[in-house]
Amino acid sequence: MTNQAQKLAEIVGSQHIGKSVKTKFIAVTSGKGGVGKTTISANMGYILAQSGAQVGLLDADIGLANLDLMLGVKPEKTILSIMRGECGVEDILMRIDKTLYLIPGENGGDILKFRESYALERFYDEIKKLDFLDYLVVDTGAGIGESVQTFLKAADETIIVTTPDPAAITDAYSMMKTLSDSPKRLLMIVNQTHSDREGDRVFAGIAKVAAKNLPNIEPILLGSLPKDDEIAQSVRGRYLFAKESGGLRTGARLNEIARKLLRFMERGVLETKRGSGFGGFFKRLLDQF
Ligand SMILES: Nc1ncnc2c1ncn2[C@@H]1O[C@H](COP(=O)(O)OP(=O)(O)O)[C@@H](O)[C@H]1O
Ligand SMILES: [Mg+2]
Repeated sequence: MTNQAQKLAEIVGSQHIGKSVKTKFIAVTSGKGGVGKTTISANMGYILAQSGAQVGLLDADIGLANLDLMLGVKPEKTILSIMRGECGVEDILMRIDKTLYLIPGENGGDILKFRESYALERFYDEIKKLDFLDYLVVDTGAGIGESVQTFLKAADETIIVTTPDPAAITDAYSMMKTLSDSPKRLLMIVNQTHSDREGDRVFAGIAKVAAKNLPNIEPILLGSLPKDDEIAQSVRGRYLFAKESGGLRTGARLNEIARKLLRFMERGVLETKRGSGFGGFFKRLLDQF
């Protein structure tokens, strides 16, 4: 084994080296910031990993509360270091839990700037080391900017997070609109609700307008999560609420949402994506221009 392979084996376990599964890429996004994307990405990733699946969390939203902060780690290098050819996957991958890993990122725009680089082929090759992952959850950041859109178009599944706040709903709808040039299933989570009825009502409102104006879009409600001090506290305390309170109300709710997500993914993606695995994902990402 080379030093690099050895280092990777220490992080992910040697049985996974060189293993290739069909990684499912799940993008978590929103129209408006501060709705709970990072909180949901981190905890959902943890829940998916609890079933034994190998799960990566890619931080493509370097904002105020990043995934690394929420997970209580301090990365020194990011995916950009790999793109620049400065290091390998094993130098940035951080193990968070048994089968949960953080892939420290940059904001999406910085990642996409690299699309013109001569080092891309090398990068695609290097990133294939992550092909052992069953799921990659991408925290994409908010907004209808080019970089977020690009991530969403490359992903297998897109989860849009909104809150009952009218501004968040309006922005979530704008987001759906920008994705509506081709058929797309959009999974929604209504976060910070005061009741399930409120979550259902918010979704019904969005679905109604979408049915009328966006024939390509199929919105699906994954579920709603209550506004809960337990969640706010977990973010402040830098622990995963799904880990510490799996049996409690909010942990259990997110569990249900994750199970529903798995069921949808099992039904298969709407269209077959060009190229599979990580090389394929980043090719889809960077080739869109
Ligand atoms: N269900 C919830 N109940 C209470 N507070 C929440 C909930 N979801 C998120 N928050 C809080 O909202 C803030 C923003 O969450 P965050 O995940 O960083 O949003 P985003 O990534 O969309 O910007 C965090 O401080 C977090 O504590
Ligand atoms: Mg965030």
